[in-house]
Amino acid sequence: MTRTPVIRPTANSDCTAVVRIARQLVAAADTYAFEPDVTDAALWAYWSPDTDTQGDGFVTEFDGLVVAMFVIRPNHPGPASHIANASYAVDIAARGKGIGRSIGKQSLLLAAKLGYEAMQFNIVISTNVAAVRLWQSLGFDIVGTIPAGFRMPDGTLVAHHIMHRTL
Ligand SMILES: CC(C)(COP(=O)(O)OP(=O)(O)OC[C@H]1O[C@@H](n2cnc3c(N)ncnc32)[C@H](O)[C@@H]1OP(=O)(O)O)[C@@H](O)C(=O)NCCC(=O)NCCS
Repeated sequence: MTRTPVIRPTANSDCTAVVRIARQLVAAADTYAFEPDVTDAALWAYWSPDTDTQGDGFVTEFDGLVVAMFVIRPNHPGPASHIANASYAVDIAARGKGIGRSIGKQSLLLAAKLGYEAMQFNIVISTNVAAVRLWQSLGFDIVGTIPAGFRMPDGTLVAHHIMHRTL
C-alpha cells in the first residue's frame, strides 16, 4: 500500500478507477466538454492514450487508491506537435488537498522531459475558478477567451479560456 502520493503511468488495471473519476466530470458537466452519453470505453481511451494516439497517461495513487489522473498529448499533429495539451482530474473526495497542484507541476516537468516546448489548454471554463487560479499560479497566461463558449448544465452560456505557457 502506498502511504505517500505517487504519480505513475496509467496501467490497464486502473481502468475502473479512471472511469469512476471521469464519470464525476461527466455528471457535473461544468469543466469538460464530454457528451452526456459518453461510453466508459471512450472515457478510458481519452484518459489512457497509448502509442497510437501519441499521448501519455498518468495517475496519482494514495493509500493504494487512484485519486487523480492526467494525460499529456500533442495539442496538434505535425508542425504544431511541439506544443502539448493536457487534461487533469482529481477525485471529488480528494480535492482541495494539494493534489491538483502536485499533478500540475509534475505534468510540466514530464512534458518538458517528453520533448514538448510549450503547453496549451484549449478549454478552461471561466467559472472553473480552481483551475484558472491553479494554472495561472503555475505560469499559464490566458491568451484568448471565447465568449459564450460553453453551456452549463442550467443552460447558461459562459466563456472559456485558452491558456498557454512555455516549458
Ligand atoms: C482543478 C482541479 C484539478 C484542482 O485540483 P485540487 O486537488 O482540488 O487543487 P489543489 O488542492 O492542489 O489546489 C491548487 C490551487 O487551486 C485553487 N483552488 C483549489 N480549489 C479551489 C476552490 N475551491 N476555489 C478556488 N480556488 C481553488 C487554489 O488556487 C489552489 O492554490 P493553493 O495551493 O495556493 O491553495 C480539481 O478541482 C478538479 O479535478 N476539477 C475537475 C476537473 C477540472 O476542472 N480539471 C481541469 C480542467 S482545465
